[in-house]
Amino acid sequence: MTEFSATDLSAHARSILRANDHGGYTVPTARLYPFQWNWDSAFVAIGFSTFDEARAWSELEFLVKGQWEDGLIPQIIFHAPSDDYFPGPKVWGIDRTPPTSGISQPPVLASAARALWERCSDRALAEAKLAEIYPAALRYHRWWQQARDPQRTGLVSILHPWETGMDNSPAWDMALARVPTDTVTVIERRDTTLIDPSMRPRGEEYQRFIHLVDLFRGLNWDAAKMFAASPFRVADIGINAILLRAERDLLVLADRFGTKAEAAEISARAELLQAGIRRQWSERHGVFLSRDLVTDAPIEAATSAGFLPLWAGATTPEQSVAMAAKLEKWAGAVAFLVPSFDPTDPRFEPMRYWRGPVWLVVNWMIGHGLLANGQEALGLRVHADTTRLVREQGFAEYFDPRDGSGLGGGEFSWTAAIWLLLE
Ligand code: DGY
Repeated sequence: MTEFSATDLSAHARSILRANDHGGYTVPTARLYPFQWNWDSAFVAIGFSTFDEARAWSELEFLVKGQWEDGLIPQIIFHAPSDDYFPGPKVWGIDRTPPTSGISQPPVLASAARALWERCSDRALAEAKLAEIYPAALRYHRWWQQARDPQRTGLVSILHPWETGMDNSPAWDMALARVPTDTVTVIERRDTTLIDPSMRPRGEEYQRFIHLVDLFRGLNWDAAKMFAASPFRVADIGINAILLRAERDLLVLADRFGTKAEAAEISARAELLQAGIRRQWSERHGVFLSRDLVTDAPIEAATSAGFLPLWAGATTPEQSVAMAAKLEKWAGAVAFLVPSFDPTDPRFEPMRYWRGPVWLVVNWMIGHGLLANGQEALGLRVHADTTRLVREQGFAEYFDPRDGSGLGGGEFSWTAAIWLLLE
């Protein structure tokens, strides 16, 4: 096994971000994902801030260029055309400049903006950028509540597995089974021509993914109609925890860039979310669970997202201890933390996208969450596993938790970003 030195790896990580730079925004990796992705870009911006502040801000500015009038920041922004990806702008059928997809993704934006603000050495530049990014993030968070929790239950919902960023997680299996497999759009997958299909979502999942896109396009991407009509409606514990953390980070920015009324509004949303997340604790699983909002039942699947309330600061001391015990159990079953799905569950697939592999951005959030909640040793262990994966395997999209093998796309932007943050 080749081990690379930290200095070489950091130079390599910076060169990945430079190579994936398409003139102000970064693609996650060449060909497989040839556009700007929402949560990828937020992590990439934090990575850039370690060596190029101006470029870090530009990443967030390009993300905000995709924002809709109602506040939605889409999952994909198609700044420039590419034939390498399906479904491209035609399938989404959204007539905007730049074209975008019509669903969202984990809202890391405000957390990235706060991180850039706190790391910045050029204060004047940061203030100028935040004068635009702060209000955009505020509108985005309002969108999550208005469009996705119209009844103020305390949990925002997602209407498509792609919104979670954890597309084919076993957590979505039962809810997704309600979505028919017929599609208007002809499915022309490109991902499986670029990557071994055993590492990607299955064909049947794609049929259901595209069925939902067809359905929403038929509703003209009207948020209220989509919410009412979607056969897939889930409160993803990952998104809710990431949003709560983002609200807390936005509150810090509101002190400097917002008004008192905005700060009060943000605090109120954060409190509601915190209460919603607290209800998703599962004593039996020792983690938080997502909730199927169509059946109004918890989803019995322990995923890495179930640990993200640690990142949000939403856990009691007892819950943090129980989650640490759960992670220790997982550590007994695999060589590298944190597998995206319970490695002791029969549905665990260690090489298939979000059904088992380790993803470094999730590790980074869980590692910090453990450190912030009194689980120092385990937090350091997660960070050490994260950097060891890169040292042994390079900058893969995701990793096999059994032996660390790099999987999916290579020269991956957010993997490079996380290395730069942890090196
Ligand atoms: C993909 O195309 O695999 C992406 O995860 C969708 O966002």
